[in-house]
Amino acid sequence: MTLIDRDAGVIAGIEKLRFFDLAAVGGSGSRLRLEDGREALDLSASWGAASLGNAHPEIAAAVGRASADMPGASILSLVNGPAVELAERILATLGGGDRRVWLGHSGSDANDTAVRALTAATGRPRVISFERAYHGALTGSIAISGHPALDQGEKAAGLIQLPYPDPRDDEAADAVLEELEAQLARHGEQVAACFVEPILSDGGLIVPPSGFLAGLSERCRAHGVLLVCDEVKVGLARSGTLHAFQVDDVAPDIVCLGKGLGGIRIGGDSGGPHGQPQRGKGGAVATTAVDDERGEAASLRLRGEELAGDGAVITTSVDNEDVPGAGLAKRVDHGHEVAVGFRGDDAPDGVATRHERPDRGSQHTEPR
Ligand SMILES: Cc1ncc(COP(=O)(O)O)c(C=O)c1O
Repeated sequence: MTLIDRDAGVIAGIEKLRFFDLAAVGGSGSRLRLEDGREALDLSASWGAASLGNAHPEIAAAVGRASADMPGASILSLVNGPAVELAERILATLGGGDRRVWLGHSGSDANDTAVRALTAATGRPRVISFERAYHGALTGSIAISGHPALDQGEKAAGLIQLPYPDPRDDEAADAVLEELEAQLARHGEQVAACFVEPILSDGGLIVPPSGFLAGLSERCRAHGVLLVCDEVKVGLARSGTLHAFQVDDVAPDIVCLGKGLGGIRIGGDSGGPHGQPQRGKGGAVATTAVDDERGEAASLRLRGEELAGDGAVITTSVDNEDVPGAGLAKRVDHGHEVAVGFRGDDAPDGVATRHERPDRGSQHTEPR
C-alpha cells in the first residue's frame, strides 16, 4: 500500500487541500523527498511555515535543545526562560512602545485571540477586515475572514468588510480608503480594530499600492480604531523586509505572527493592549527565526531573486517591478502567473503544476 492510500485510511479529510498526488517522507532546504525516491523543488515552503527551508539546521538544533532541556511546558503558572527570551526578541523588532507578546498555538489562534482581546479591552464590539482575507480557521478568526473557503463559518456581528485594493487599478486604494472613511464616520465608535494582511496572501497574493497601509493606519488612528497587521503568512522576511508592514511608515497596534516564527507551527500576537499570556511553546525554537533582522531579510530576498532568475517557473517576475513590495511572495505570485502557462504534461520536467485558476484568489477553493 502506498503512503497516499494509507493517508486516505487514517488522516481526516476536514482540512485536506491537496493540489498534487505527492507523498513526502522527508526534506531539506528547498527540496522535498518523495516516497518514490524523487526529489521535488518545494515552492510552497509548507504554506510559509518553512520560511527558512525544510529542516533548517539551526531550527532542528533549537528544537533538540528545547526538548532536551525543557523548562516546563506552560507559561500559565511559571515564568519560562525561553518564552521570555523569544518575547524580548520579537519586541526588539517592533521598535519599542509599551508592548507585550501573547504566545499561542497557530496563526488562527493569534487572530482569534486578538479579536477577543481587542473587543473586550476597548468595549467596542465591531471589527473591520477585508474581502478575501484569510485570518484563520478557528471560530473567531473565521468570523472576521473574507476568504470564500471560510464561507461556512458564521461572520462576526457587525463585521465591516472592505475590498482589498487592486494594485493594477490606480484609483482602487483611494476608493477603499474613502469607503473606510465613510464607515468610520458612521460606525467608528463601535469599531475596536481593523485587521489587514499587508500582502493579501491566500486571497490572491495581492500587494497593495504603496502608501495604502499608511492611509489605513492614519484613518484608523483618527477614530481610535486599532490597527492589526496579520503577518502570519507574509511576515518574518518573506516579503523582503522583516515585517511586511515596513514597506509603509506604519506602526501597527498589534502584529500577528505565525508559520515561519519557528520553522514549525507557532503563533502569537504582540501588541499594546496587554494580552494574557496563557501558554508557551518552545520559545528557544522560534528565536532563531527572528534572529538578525537585516541578515535574514536580506538573505531571503536574495533567495527570492535567485529563484526568480533561475528557471522557467518564475522568470517574468524579474521584469515585473511595477508592483511594490519586492520579495519572495511577490516572486512566487508572478511565478504562478507564469506557471499557469503550462499544465500537466506540458510542464517542464520536474515541475509540478496545478490547474489554472480563473482569478487571483482561488488558492483555497480549488484543490485538485
Ligand atoms: C494571513 C494568515 N493569517 C492566519 C492564518 C492561519 O494560520 P494557521 O494556519 O497557522 O492557523 C493564515 C494561514 O494560512 C494566513 O495566511
